[in-house]
Amino acid sequence: MQLDLKMTNKTPKWTTERLFKALAHVKLGGSTCLYTREKCEELLPKILRIEELKKEKDAVILAHSYVAPDIIQAVSDFVGDSYELSKKAKEASQKTIVFVAVKFMAETAKLLNPKKRVLIPSKINGCSLADSISGSQVVTLRQQYPDYTFVCYINTTAEVKAECDVCVTSSNVYAIIEAIPNNKIYFLPDKLMGKNVINYLAEKGIHKDIKLWDGTCYVHEEYNPEMIQYIRSQHDGVKVLTHPECSEDVLADSDFVGSTSQMLNYVKKTKAPSFFMLTECGLTGRLEAESPDKKFVGTCTMCKYMRSNTLDDIIRVLENADSDDIVEINTKTQAAALMSIEAMFKYNM
Ligand code: 13P
Ligand code: SF4
Repeated sequence: MQLDLKMTNKTPKWTTERLFKALAHVKLGGSTCLYTREKCEELLPKILRIEELKKEKDAVILAHSYVAPDIIQAVSDFVGDSYELSKKAKEASQKTIVFVAVKFMAETAKLLNPKKRVLIPSKINGCSLADSISGSQVVTLRQQYPDYTFVCYINTTAEVKAECDVCVTSSNVYAIIEAIPNNKIYFLPDKLMGKNVINYLAEKGIHKDIKLWDGTCYVHEEYNPEMIQYIRSQHDGVKVLTHPECSEDVLADSDFVGSTSQMLNYVKKTKAPSFFMLTECGLTGRLEAESPDKKFVGTCTMCKYMRSNTLDDIIRVLENADSDDIVEINTKTQAAALMSIEAMFKYNM
């Protein structure tokens, strides 16, 4: 069944005052994230133009929680983690999907809803994980490890997904790898996430032979336990939340580990004097806007790929997309890559 996302997410009519009210609490990123009345006044014409274009072009805007707060709060129809976004992309009824995130996520939308025109506003396509391995490298690995089930993180290109058996996201990686009947697993490309899966299974007394590729997320690998110690020494009762792309030492010192949406839900339902979010700070910006009663401490680290999406780029792709802005996947890759994503949905986790 196709869901009309416009019907379920009524966009308010924006004014400078409403925009300021929605964004005034965003502050963790310092001056780059400050939304003054003047800044909101400057952004308003762009936001209103995007509203017009969405109607004119029959477009829906899906955005990841790591993009700029103005995109999240004012123009997107749905914001989520990569699992939720792929489900929304599959259900979208509009002719055009504008995917405000990174290329592999937009490709996943195209795989799941191939008749739609999928546009990607970002001009710097990339992700340090997705860029770390190619489809032909997976072919070589499969020859080396013929008995292994190949599990790819969603942060991979369609070409890589096409060579794997099942795709996973940060919200289901532990549960799916645990459920796979084969004890021999090749997990790629995130070696830190892979090590975290091994530790999780070991704690449950499950021992699988898990081989790992040597990829990392350049944002999450930077966090270390010393940062957590320091923040805990300065902020009594702080809750530390961590994304599973961080190292095992960081996870060991955390109060909660989960996907970006699982982290968001944890904060929304937890009473604590403050929160330290070990992930890209777009998520903190989103929480500051949506839960102004909560206090966030610590650092702000931005993903250059996610942050290369701007309101101007959204206008540009909706007005006049060029071939680089339109996601295309060849038929052979499309069919094979879709199988690995459908295999993930079959686990229903
Ligand atoms: P989530 O699926 O948890 O949103 O993670 C995506 C991502 O790119 C994390 O760096
Ligand atoms: Fe890729 Fe890391 Fe950016 Fe996520 S935060 S999109 S994993 S580079």
